[in-house]
Formats: sequence, C-alpha cells, structure tokens
Amino acid sequence: MNVKYKILDSGSNTLFKSLYDLDALIIFCNSAKPLIPTNKIFNDLKFDVEKQIKNHNFTGNEDKYLEIISGKKNKYIKIILIGCGDLKNKKSIEYHACCGVRKTISLGYSNIGIFTSLNIRKINNYQSFLSRGSLWGTYKYSFQKNDNICINFISTKNHLLLVKEGIIEGQTICKVADLSNSPGNIATPTKISQYVEKITSETNLDTTFLKKVDLEEKKCGGILSVADGSKHDPEIIIMKHLLSSKKTNPIVLIGKTVTFDSGGISLKPGKDMGWMKYDKCGGMSVLCIMEIISKLKLNIPIIGILGVAENMPGSNATRPGDIISTYNKKTIEVLNTDAEGRLILADALGIGSEFQPSCIIDIATLTGAVIMALGHSASAVLGNNNDLIHSLILSGNNVGEKLWELPILQDFVNDMKSDFADLSNLSKSGTAGTATAAAFLSEFIPKNIPWAHIDIAGTAWKNCKTNYQDAGATLFSVRLILEWLKNYSK
Ligand code: BES
Ligand code: ZN
Ligand code: ZN
Repeated sequence: MNVKYKILDSGSNTLFKSLYDLDALIIFCNSAKPLIPTNKIFNDLKFDVEKQIKNHNFTGNEDKYLEIISGKKNKYIKIILIGCGDLKNKKSIEYHACCGVRKTISLGYSNIGIFTSLNIRKINNYQSFLSRGSLWGTYKYSFQKNDNICINFISTKNHLLLVKEGIIEGQTICKVADLSNSPGNIATPTKISQYVEKITSETNLDTTFLKKVDLEEKKCGGILSVADGSKHDPEIIIMKHLLSSKKTNPIVLIGKTVTFDSGGISLKPGKDMGWMKYDKCGGMSVLCIMEIISKLKLNIPIIGILGVAENMPGSNATRPGDIISTYNKKTIEVLNTDAEGRLILADALGIGSEFQPSCIIDIATLTGAVIMALGHSASAVLGNNNDLIHSLILSGNNVGEKLWELPILQDFVNDMKSDFADLSNLSKSGTAGTATAAAFLSEFIPKNIPWAHIDIAGTAWKNCKTNYQDAGATLFSVRLILEWLKNYSK
C-alpha cells in the first residue's frame, strides 16, 4: 500500500504551519455548519469558512461538496467542504469521512488533512469510525493503486487512542480487501494460507493449518469432495486468539473461503461467473476480524476458522448423486455440486463445535436466493438463538451493515432429507433457498450451542462503484462483528 497516515496534535502551537503544507484540508459540514475544533488557533479559519459558506449558499446537504481557499498570499489552505446533511450517528460519520476522502483524492489532492475532534453533541466515541472510514476512502485495488496518498489526522490528545484504533481497523480492511479482490488465479488456497502464515508471525495468533492429509485423517469428506475437481488442495485454517488471563469459552467465527466457484460438474452459466472470485468473502471477513482483534489485543477469546477450497469440474470432481461422509459422520447425497459451501461448512462447523464455544457465527456467500429475498441491501441472518441474532442485528444497524432475519422452520429441515443418505445438499422443494441452506447447516450444530449464520452473497461485493467505494469487495460483516464483539458479546 502506498497510503500513509500521520497524526497531528490539534493543540500544538505549530499546527498551523503544518496545515499550510497540506494539499487540502477536509472540513465536514453538519448541514451548513462547518465542524472545526473549538480552539482559539482555529478562530480566524472558522470565521472565514463560515463567511464563505454563506457567500456560496452552501447547504451542506449530503454528498454535496465545495472547494474554497482560506488565507492569503503564500499562507493559504485549500479546503474541501464535505456536506454531511444532518449528522446523527457514528455510521454516518464513517460514511462521510470515506466519501470525503474519495472526493478529495479524485480532485487530485494527495497530502490531505482531516479534523478528528468535531464537537458534535450527542455522538460519542466516533473518532475510530472517522479514521477507519477515511482510510477506506483511500482504498484502490493493487492494480490501480492510489499513489503517495497521505492522510493527516488532526486530533486532540484525548481522542488519540480511538483514532489509532480506527487506523488499525481501516488499514487491515484495506489490506484484506486486496486479497478479496484478487482473482482465482492469484488468490489460490496456497496464497490465502501464506497470508495467514504471515499475519500469524506478526501477531499472537496461534494458528493450525489442516492440510489435505490432515483433512483425510479427520475424515472431512465435505471439504475434500468440493476440492476433488481442482488442482489446488483444500485446507481448514484455525486461528486462535486466546488470552492467558481469561478462561471463558471462546467465540467461534467460521468463514466460507471458496477461492473460485465454477459450480463444479453442475457448472454455472458463463454469464457473471467471473464474480465467483468473491466466493471467499466470508472467510476474508473472518481473517480480517482475526487480524484486527489480535492487533487491538481485544480481551475476548476468539477462534477463527476458514474452510478454503476451489470448486472446479476436473476429472476427479464429485458427481451429482455421489454420497459423502462429513467430519461428524453424517452422510450427504450431493445432488448439485454448486451447493458446495454447505459441504465445506458442515466440516468446519463440526470442528468448531469441539472448542466448547460460547457461540458460533458463520459467514458465507452461500446462496443466490438471498439476493432474491433482500437484494444487495441487507444480509440474511438465521440461527437457533434469538438473543444472539438480535444483538447481531443491533450491531449491524449501528455500523450501517444491515441484517434481516429469516426463519429456520422444521419444514425446511425435512426438505433437506435424502432418500439415500442422512441429508441432501439440495432441497426437494427448490424453494426458500437461503433458509433451507441454513436448515442444512443447523444439522451440524449441537442444539446447546448458540449459533448464527450470516449469508452475505448479496452484500460481499459491489458490481459498480458508488460514492463510498469502487466496484469490488466490501468486507461486509467486519464492521458489524467488531461492533458486536466490543459491545454485545460480554
Ligand atoms: N457461491 C454460490 C452462491 C452465490 C450466488 C454467491 C450468487 C454470490 C452470488 C453458491 O455456492 C451456490 O452456487 N449456491 C447455489 C445453491 C443451489 C445449487 C442450491 C445457488 O444459490 O444457486
Ligand atoms: Zn456454488
Ligand atoms: Zn459458492
């Protein structure tokens, strides 16, 4: 990444000098009111900006901006006023920080300043959202990198910790977005494994790599059958963030990590198949969360599990009709090799259940049907525990990653029974695709473990660019799970 950041002390007497060195200074406008820290060194700036806002009739409405210059002769500052409408919460601060930085970069500026101490009444502890959003605003996929961008966070001392927390989160999200956006020929199972090895060496994560031989020994017939048609070996990666001080049961996070989903022998149609490089995004979220919590040294024991495989139609591929046996000894009739995610998750959930978890959350681009149900505006959440599901929905609402609950009815479980094995990977009815997939997964979770499944097939990537990001991976669920871990999991 070529993106750098600096933190400038907004209380320092020499700050103004550094401001003149910037290419541009971003100032958020809460409607027409510029958010400039209350500090007498900014009095003149504030007075001038307010005057210019009036002269230009700048309303500060959402997604509007205005470029102005404040100062005189050699001592002037270019200012980008970013309209935020009526700022109400942390998620809108994150959104506008991101859009503001993207707009400023698109105007050609590289060395950019941004105030992080905004004096907005009623919104607390938003500084980490602001710095996280600003860094997401700098993100471009490797092949089209932004050159030499530097974000200067102008912060008071008391907000430093939060600003730094958001920087760690934002930088990690950008780094994992690069892996997520990499296509199947680059982000192979081996490449993902190497990435995890690297972060394991940089953090306190304790990682186990279950390679193909280990999966054979453990009789993980689900993930093995998915990878049979590919030249790349599958892997289950277990990352442990355990604390010596806290002996409570761990939270287990599981991510579907299919590096490319061709459908296998039940080959997908060619149109739009290229998007299936994003079938690893559940795993990418889990990986990103594990990297962040280990860097932030979060005081919660968490285990992240990735089921990594490629789904291809090679000559050794699983055939429709084949019967396989999973880690927990259930047999599955594979009627459609394109319903591969649930086969991988069956093994991963079996392994995850053995850590005596306080709860399990799995994240997966599991069904096209979720797009029929919720479009690209929300992910589906399903599970066996109301408290868990509702706390996740609440966390999602706080960060702008919406979840919507669908039910797992007994009918759906019955619909997944096979005439030739314990279960089929395809429902008999062909209806309720997202919920029948979750009903299938529920058969691999002991009833006493609270469990939630998040289907991100409609939200894991954007097809085209928006004010908030380019086309590509969104890392949907990272922000919501972090919020949940910090606030609701205790
Ligand atoms: N990876 C796909 C789900 C998907 C579809 C993700 C569209 C993102 C966008 C999954 O493996 C799949 O193919 N599911 C099938 C299941 C069906 C065969 C029961 C589906 O949804 O069509
Ligand atoms: Zn598939
Ligand atoms: Zn898939």
